[in-house]
Amino acid sequence: MEFSPIIIGTMRLGSWGAQLDTEALERFIDACIDLGFSHFDHADIYGHYTEEERFGRVLKRRPDLKTKLQITTKCGIRILSPNRPQHRLKSYDATAAHLVWSAENSLRELGVDQLDVFLIHRPDFLMHPHEIATAVEQLKTSGKVRAFGVSNFSPSQFEMLHHFTPLATNQVEISLLHRQAFSDGTLDQCLRLGIRPSAWSPFGGGRIFNDGDSPELQRVRKAIEQLGESHGATVDQILLAFLLQHPAGILPILGSSKIERIQSARAALEVQLSHEDWYQLWEAATGVEVP
Ligand SMILES: NC(=O)c1ccc[n+]([C@@H]2O[C@H](COP(=O)([O-])OP(=O)(O)OC[C@H]3O[C@@H](n4cnc5c(N)ncnc54)[C@H](OP(=O)(O)O)[C@@H]3O)[C@@H](O)[C@H]2O)c1
Repeated sequence: MEFSPIIIGTMRLGSWGAQLDTEALERFIDACIDLGFSHFDHADIYGHYTEEERFGRVLKRRPDLKTKLQITTKCGIRILSPNRPQHRLKSYDATAAHLVWSAENSLRELGVDQLDVFLIHRPDFLMHPHEIATAVEQLKTSGKVRAFGVSNFSPSQFEMLHHFTPLATNQVEISLLHRQAFSDGTLDQCLRLGIRPSAWSPFGGGRIFNDGDSPELQRVRKAIEQLGESHGATVDQILLAFLLQHPAGILPILGSSKIERIQSARAALEVQLSHEDWYQLWEAATGVEVP
């Protein structure tokens, strides 16, 4: 599937962050689309099960947007929430019944006819692959879901489910501050299968900008500063270039609610790090030279 090279996350746009009202959210969506970033990442749980509906309110006012944007949403985490009083504890649920109900609920909340990408948010240790495959087939045949995938799956969990039903992506945490996917087989698997992964928290959830002065952050900031100077690029642009450089075609998911920060991300597409630049960042993050 062809999507915009950077995805816009919605987790922090509402009650879990910026609390944009409908007008501000509409302006934000318009601005992202104008910048060429038309793919929005949702999950049923964001804003305690309210974010899809808030986004849907904009689409109701502006139905023209529906043909201009693509939507990923996720299901399968059941959080404790006043909006789900029936949940006794936090748990995972990837049963067929829950997948079908969740997809239909997300369609209703968002007010769209089709989910472009529908993901299982986290691996349910009790998942039955045959059951999931049947549910996905049903959702695709009825046109409710265009592509199906997973999030936070290990390579072996991905391999197992992919055997039963084709998975379009694995959405995992990847950043200079969280490098597991580079070495645990996740990105190798994407390359082998020709699947583009998406990367959540590309700035470590904002940690790189704000949080503390650990030796790791100090080293990373220094390396970014040096490379930023030589490439004429800002911190966010260097961090995104680090991901975009990988041959697996990583799609970073931005978590910002600020249009000027989304705008800045666009320039990252032009930053070309050399192999040495990339390893300079790697060395700064790990604190040691590669073996
Ligand atoms: N699949 C999963 O399990 C999973 C888990 C977590 C997240 N996600 C998805 O991934 C998306 C991104 O995750 P994230 O929000 O953690 O990503 P992130 O982009 O690493 O972090 C976003 C945070 O960084 C701040 N920030 C961004 N650019 C900045 C800058 N230039 N200077 C200072 N602060 C800056 C933002 O604040 P401002 O708003 O003030 O810019 C925001 O608080 C989420 O929206 C969600 O869609 C998926």
